[in-house]
Amino acid sequence: MNEQAILQLREQTVQIVSALKAFVNEKCKNEDKFSLVLKTAGSTFLACYVYDIVYNHDKHFTDRVKTQFFQKLRVLPVIGPKIKAEVEKAKSSVRNNKDLYNPSYLLELPAKSKTVDEMKLIVQDYLEMDTIDWRNGRVQGAVYDHDADLIEISAKAYEMFMWSNPLHADVFKGVRKMEAEVLAMCLKLYNGPKDSCGLFTCGGTESIGLAVLSARNIALAKGIKWPELIMPATAHPAFDKACDYFRVKKIKVPVHLTTYEADVRKMKSAISSSTCLLVGSAPTYPHGVYDDFAKINELAKNYNIPFHVDCCLGGFINPFAAAAGYRIPTFDFRLSHVTSISCDTHKYGYCPKGSSVVMFRTPEIRRAAIYSCTDWPGGVYATPTYAGSRSGASSATTWACMLKIGHAGYIERTKSVLDAARALREGISRIEGLKIMGKSIGTVVAFTSNKVNIFQLMHDLASKKKWIFGPLQFPSGIHITVTRTHTKSGVVNTILKDIEELNAALLAAGSEYVSDAVAVYGLAQTIPDRSIVGSIAATFIETCLDTNVQQIAEEAEDTKRG
Ligand SMILES: Cc1ncc(COP(=O)(O)O)c(C=O)c1O
Repeated sequence: MNEQAILQLREQTVQIVSALKAFVNEKCKNEDKFSLVLKTAGSTFLACYVYDIVYNHDKHFTDRVKTQFFQKLRVLPVIGPKIKAEVEKAKSSVRNNKDLYNPSYLLELPAKSKTVDEMKLIVQDYLEMDTIDWRNGRVQGAVYDHDADLIEISAKAYEMFMWSNPLHADVFKGVRKMEAEVLAMCLKLYNGPKDSCGLFTCGGTESIGLAVLSARNIALAKGIKWPELIMPATAHPAFDKACDYFRVKKIKVPVHLTTYEADVRKMKSAISSSTCLLVGSAPTYPHGVYDDFAKINELAKNYNIPFHVDCCLGGFINPFAAAAGYRIPTFDFRLSHVTSISCDTHKYGYCPKGSSVVMFRTPEIRRAAIYSCTDWPGGVYATPTYAGSRSGASSATTWACMLKIGHAGYIERTKSVLDAARALREGISRIEGLKIMGKSIGTVVAFTSNKVNIFQLMHDLASKKKWIFGPLQFPSGIHITVTRTHTKSGVVNTILKDIEELNAALLAAGSEYVSDAVAVYGLAQTIPDRSIVGSIAATFIETCLDTNVQQIAEEAEDTKRG
């Protein structure tokens, strides 16, 4: 801009301000000066108050409005008691689910010690309570392998290190070295740059939580008062949980309607000066879709925002997919603005549960997740993760399984799982009315139907053929996370044959057919007040944790009384 243009602009500004001043003075000429000051102060206060309500909060404004609305609805005279009665009915049906409790609970310590042999028998009894044959692929996801060599090596490593405690790194030097080596091996697989580093955690949820904690702390240090996290709607609830725990405002962005990939344009529109983290999944849990990391990386670069790639599920598939003959998008530190990655060793790493890794591009990013308390009379106390004391057995079994399988072993395993997933995906897409959901290329196969009730099919698969699939909502569907247990000879073909047979029976029964047991499936997604769904889910957790002895006694009493 040249000097003349600047002069012209200044003159125009002076003219506008003078005109505004004259206008306001004219309008206020009869105003009392005191009341004018009072009105100005009042309206400024009101504007700040409204701004505070809308923006300065860790929950999104629309979420808060919805919550308030439903809370008010629940206290209305006629509707309120009706809703309450329905919720209580649903909760009591959860509590009375006989699958969830066994009336012969132990309620106190045995009076005397038991022998080792007695204990072995009791433990065996509890093991035999599992009636679903997960070892032979009857459950989707959940258990990723059941390999005799891995069981032997993990059991040995567990036995040797079960009393170790990595909190005392000076005492347990072997386990400390194992943990550092697990991190180094993962960083190598994820093309970690020279300074990259990590933390060993107890699972994907903790890895994600620590990545969010680090991003939040970095944002707070920059002066951002209400850090915001932008996640596609399909990202794992571990992010929702971290936002809740650490007071981060989550902004959920809808995904593409047909591919179920993150909608990067919508993510871009959600960015604000408070954004502390962008999230992508490699792949997503519901549909096994890989988000467009290159595009999210561009956003992270252009707006200088940290970027987390959730490789919890694909942790030990992604680095080996290319060698196994499968193409997936670049997902790791080769993308210039990826700042953290979660990677579960206890899924396709085939290590026993309770083991995961979160990696950071730089030590500064990791430092923001490490906790230290310096003024405690017990001494200076610092921990890398949520836990204080923890068993080193988890690090030892993870290390042992990774070494046992090795690079070539992981490629071979990745190929067998991806081949099985592809065979399932292709087979299901050939079955009448069934449709694969989203652009899934990994180990998860999600599908729906435009001809039969998909939850009826899921129910029939479980009740008639003993295959446990997982339900999906928004929109309805079912999925299977293919694991090593599904790569056993004949498993995929039997699943396909059973789906085809049950689907044909449902087609014959007509598209409207829904049995009583299935009428409740998918109901949760039709309830607009999500807090009701949440409280029923909490009832389920409570029912699992409690012995319900009191309730059983009351029910027995009621039955006696007739
Ligand atoms: C994509 C993804 N992220 C995170 C998690 C959470 O992992 P965890 O159950 O180990 O806490 C899962 C679990 O299935 C997942 O699939």
